[in-house]
Amino acid sequence: MLDSVEPRALERTISLIAPAKINLALHVTGRRDDGYHLLDSLVVFAHIGDKVSATPAPFDSFEVSGPFGRALPDDETNLVLKARNALRARFPEKGAPVAIHLEKHLPIASGIGGGSSDAAATLRALTVLWGIETNELAAIGLTLGADVPMCLYGQPLIARGIGEEIEGIDGFPHLPMVLVNSGLATSTPQVFSALVKRDNQSLPALPNFSSVHDVCLYLGQTDNHLFSAAEKLTPAIGDAMKALRSTDPRLVRMSGSGGTCFAIYGSDHEAEAAAAALKRAQPGWFVVATHNGMERS
Ligand code: C5P
Repeated sequence: MLDSVEPRALERTISLIAPAKINLALHVTGRRDDGYHLLDSLVVFAHIGDKVSATPAPFDSFEVSGPFGRALPDDETNLVLKARNALRARFPEKGAPVAIHLEKHLPIASGIGGGSSDAAATLRALTVLWGIETNELAAIGLTLGADVPMCLYGQPLIARGIGEEIEGIDGFPHLPMVLVNSGLATSTPQVFSALVKRDNQSLPALPNFSSVHDVCLYLGQTDNHLFSAAEKLTPAIGDAMKALRSTDPRLVRMSGSGGTCFAIYGSDHEAEAAAAALKRAQPGWFVVATHNGMERS
C-alpha cells in the first residue's frame, strides 16, 4: 500500500548509466567442454549507454522506454528483471519492492553488451537501494551472462576465460570513436556456433598505451575472430564496416559478436564530423560519436 511506504524512501531513485561495451580486440582461444568459447579480449566502455533507474515502491514494476525500448520484452525474460530476481534470491531479507525503469538507447543484440550492461547496472543500483554489501556480485552476474562481470567492472580491461576473468588496465588513453549499427540484430549463440575455424591465438602482450596511435598500432596486430562468422550470418555488417572506412579513421572493427562496428579517430572533432556524415548518408542507422570513459549519473 502506498500509504505504508515512508514518503522519503519513495523519493530515493538510484540512476546508473549502463555503458556500451566495446571489444577493441576479441580472440577466441579455445572451447570449454560445455560449448562456451574461451576468449582473450581487450574491452573499453563508452560514455554513452542505456540508463537504469530504481526507486523504492509499494510493489514491483518494470517500465522500458527510449529509442530501442519497443524492441525489448518487459517481462521476466528481460535481463534487468533476471538481475533483480537473482539478487533478491541471494539476499531475500533485503529485496523490498522496487520500480525499475530502463531507458534503452543502445540497439538490441548488437555486440556492445546492452543487455549485460543493463543487468550489471541493475545489480549495482539495487545493492545501493537495498543496502547490500557483497563481494559476490560478479559471481551472481555470471549466472546471467558471460559479459555481465566485465560490465560490472566498467573500466578498460582484458577479459579471459569465457569473459569472467578480468584484469583491469590503468591509464588508458582517450579514444575518439564512432559506433555504427545498420539495424539487424545478430544472435550471439548463432555467431559462436558458425565459427568454423579458430586459430586459438592469444592477444599479444599489452604495452603501456599513451596515445591513440599506440592503441591503433597494437590493435593492428589483433582482430575480432568472430567477424567472418557474424558477417556471413548478417551481411549488412559489411555495409557498416565499409561506411566507417569511407570516413578515413585510424581503425575499423566489429565489436563482440556484432553487428555494431566501431571506428577510432585521431580527435573528437574528427569522430563527430564522421558521425555527422554517416548520419546524413544513412538516416536509418544507429550512428553515434563517443569515446571511452563512462559518465555515471
Ligand atoms: O553467456 P551469454 O548468455 O551471454 O552467452 C550467450 C551464448 O553465446 C552462449 O549460450 C554461448 O552459446 C555463446 N558464448 C560462447 N562463449 C562465450 C560467451 C558466449 O560460446 N565466451
